[in-house]
Amino acid sequence: MEILLFLVSLSLLASLLPISSASSHVLSQGTSLSVGNPEDVLVSPNGVFSAGFYPIGANAYSFAIWFSKPSCTSNCTVVWMANRDFPVNGKNSKLLMKRGGNMVLTDAGKSTAWSTDTVSLSPTELLLRNTGNLVLQNKDNVSLWQSFDTPTDTLLPTQHLTKNIPLVSSRSQTNSSSGFYWLFFDSDNLIKLMYDGPEVTSLYWPDPWLQDWDTGRFTYNSSRTASFDSRGMFTSSDIFTFKSADFGEILQRRLVLDSDGNLRMYSRGFNSSTWIVTWQAMSHPCRIHGTCGPNSLCSYNPITGRKCSCIPGYKIKDASDWSYGCEPEFSLICDNDTEVGFLQLIRSEFYGYDYGFHPNYTIQDCRKLCLELCGCKGFQYKLGSGNCLPKSVLLNGRQTKSQENGTLKFMLWFAVALGGLEILIILFVWCFLIGFHNNPDKDTEGYHIAATGFRRFTYSELKIATRNFSEELGRGAGGIVYKATLSDNRTAAIKKLYVADHQIDAEFLAEVSTIGKVNHMNLIETWGYCAEGKHKLLVYEYMEHGSLAENLNTETLDWQKRFEIAVGTARGLAYLHEECLEWVLHCDVKPQNILLDSQYNPKVSDFGLSKLLKRGDHDPSNFSKIRGTRGYMAPEWVSNLPITSKVDVYSYGILLLEIVTGKNPAMSVPVMQGSGEMQVERLVSWARNKKNGADHGNGLWVEELVDPRLQGEFDKAKMEILVTVAVALQCVEEDKDARPTMSKVVEFLVSQDEIHTQAQ
Ligand SMILES: *[C@@H]1O[C@H](CO)[C@@H](O)[C@H](O)[C@H]1NC(C)=O
Ligand SMILES: *[C@@H]1O[C@H](CO)[C@@H](O)[C@H](O)[C@H]1NC(C)=O
Ligand SMILES: *[C@@H]1O[C@H](CO)[C@@H](O)[C@H](O)[C@H]1NC(C)=O
Ligand SMILES: *[C@@H]1O[C@H](CO)[C@@H](O)[C@H](O)[C@H]1NC(C)=O
Ligand SMILES: *[C@@H]1O[C@H](CO)[C@@H](O)[C@H](O)[C@H]1NC(C)=O
Ligand SMILES: *[C@@H]1O[C@H](CO)[C@@H](O)[C@H](O)[C@H]1NC(C)=O
Ligand SMILES: *[C@@H]1O[C@H](CO)[C@@H](O)[C@H](O)[C@H]1NC(C)=O
Repeated sequence: MEILLFLVSLSLLASLLPISSASSHVLSQGTSLSVGNPEDVLVSPNGVFSAGFYPIGANAYSFAIWFSKPSCTSNCTVVWMANRDFPVNGKNSKLLMKRGGNMVLTDAGKSTAWSTDTVSLSPTELLLRNTGNLVLQNKDNVSLWQSFDTPTDTLLPTQHLTKNIPLVSSRSQTNSSSGFYWLFFDSDNLIKLMYDGPEVTSLYWPDPWLQDWDTGRFTYNSSRTASFDSRGMFTSSDIFTFKSADFGEILQRRLVLDSDGNLRMYSRGFNSSTWIVTWQAMSHPCRIHGTCGPNSLCSYNPITGRKCSCIPGYKIKDASDWSYGCEPEFSLICDNDTEVGFLQLIRSEFYGYDYGFHPNYTIQDCRKLCLELCGCKGFQYKLGSGNCLPKSVLLNGRQTKSQENGTLKFMLWFAVALGGLEILIILFVWCFLIGFHNNPDKDTEGYHIAATGFRRFTYSELKIATRNFSEELGRGAGGIVYKATLSDNRTAAIKKLYVADHQIDAEFLAEVSTIGKVNHMNLIETWGYCAEGKHKLLVYEYMEHGSLAENLNTETLDWQKRFEIAVGTARGLAYLHEECLEWVLHCDVKPQNILLDSQYNPKVSDFGLSKLLKRGDHDPSNFSKIRGTRGYMAPEWVSNLPITSKVDVYSYGILLLEIVTGKNPAMSVPVMQGSGEMQVERLVSWARNKKNGADHGNGLWVEELVDPRLQGEFDKAKMEILVTVAVALQCVEEDKDARPTMSKVVEFLVSQDEIHTQAQ
């Protein structure tokens, strides 16, 4: 009573000069609350709530209402804020009860951060009620404004959620500005939870795939109002109701749309400082939309909580904020030339953003449909029904537990292009497979689409795979090759290219995309690449038996292996020259570049690099510099003649002679003469002379040519075929036009071998 009298006298004075009023539940017209004065707080008559300036950041304050019983100093539970998105300065900011009825929050004595925009002819007062409602009313007790009408993220008992004002979550636990989640009444009169993110908006509660009538809601009451009482009973005009777990007790309660997108009811005893969750809307945190942002997966573990991760090929956009999700490390271009591979990601699901619903599709049809839709990033496929759902956005991704009820639900595939800049590279499609009921082994069954995997690697990934480039396998003109173990346990050979610093990524990627498209059993498989600044690397399959060069010097290669290596190498080169998508010259055919797998099958390596290693001239008929190895180089390299695929035929001819004779042309005849003609001619003419001698009846010519390491054990006819190809078929003819094509060589080798085999 004394306080009230004191205030009345103050309010008389206040009409003359504004002064502060401390720790009361009423503020009169003309008075103010000041940010600098900690005593300037309105307290509800029961002491449960306080209103005043609350710190929300470094020198940033909001005018707020919080629970103050039991008393708190810094970590109070805030239930309302006037200016959550416009914090005011810690100096000279004030809440002013202006004459005329307006209530204004000024920032640092200057600008207006917030106001009620109210007008009153009679004097007004501001009261903080026991319910936590801050009311601005006139002397006739008519309310002009109340905080209960403008909730932020919290409802208190008896406070109503109404048709036009949503609850909006905080941005994060530490940032109280407006976040991305809404609790609101939609146009069908239903109360719903919605994610309203920077790019997309989506509803997630009640379950969005349910029809309105299946949710048990009522759409025909347009009053659109919801509230709960202090015993914990929530009711809404769409007949949605719930009771809190501790229903019935009179406790402090609040219903909050938390920054993680879940709507929770909390309660606590009047003397307790700990809030307990007594109801929540979502029991699976990963089903809340937008939690991890686009292109990422949410996983949940009751112990470690919720976790977000990017899907392969994507990287996090803002490391401090998952709501921005992940962005591609490539550009996806819609055209018919882009290659597609597939990868499976098990037990994952994305919700929504479908390009229609297509029942009775095969997985191939669904895939085709997705590829034809320009914006399609992948598709979800349901086994059994054949339901195909192409996706335009990869949002709301989550990992599902294999124990989750129901048998196989969906298969999901996602298209992701890998590459860079404006250059289109390889298109990848990930397949996401949802768990099978109680049978995780089955995940590998059915559509196991392994990576046909040309992909981009990060430099750090390759650094780890090669254990910091510790095991060198060899060195060549193009770079150094290291042994590596990739994260999926495949053994790889990683070539660190020597490339000029000014090498433009786009050019590199264009070249690499060509290499990535080449696929033949006699060509080394390229699994991927890395292009990060000056680091340019290629990732190849690893070949157990190393190069032909290493093996020719040992006794491991019998005549049969040698013959098969010759045929395989010819097939690989023929494919490069004539059959593969883009015409690729090897330009450096030599034993060091023929690799042998565990079965001694040959695979040509180091192709497609000719352009990478010299810049400035992309016309293969006009190389500005010589690429190749002395001894194997065709004469046109040094005589300014156009470079064609015949340079490889020449080198191949020399290689054949080396396979037969074991003599290294580069070692035995290293001198280049002034005329530009190479002395490799000596090996060629030696072989040619022997062969020509044979035509005159000398039957021993093959024995004289053949590598002594074979110790006379060889199939004479087959060795003769090889020499014939090299010499008689004029692979090593000086005139390039006289040389056969590689496919002619393959044809001849195979046909001669058949004739010979049948004759045996
Ligand atoms: C503030 O409260 C939250 C939850 O109520 C708690 O996790 C945090 O440790 C508290 N901080 C301080 C400084 O007391
Ligand atoms: C306003 O409310 C107060 C307290 O409830 C009461 O004492 C006063 O008579 C009311 N005034 C009018 C004009 O109704
Ligand atoms: C809070 O979030 C808003 C919106 O994202 C941002 O503008 C503001 O800087 C953040 N404040 C703090 C203190 O981090
Ligand atoms: C609509 O809902 C309100 C609030 O729950 C209720 O008072 C009213 O009776 C309802 N009207 C109808 C027609 O059901
Ligand atoms: C709160 O604690 C005080 C003493 O600490 C006690 O007098 C009071 O009865 C308690 N109130 C409730 C609601 O438990
Ligand atoms: C792709 O090919 C199909 C059929 O060959 C054609 O109709 C379509 O226009 C092509 N699309 C693009 C982007 O080139
Ligand atoms: C799917 O195909 C089956 C058999 O071909 C057919 O019986 C069924 O009606 C089809 N369903 C739909 C939805 O088209």
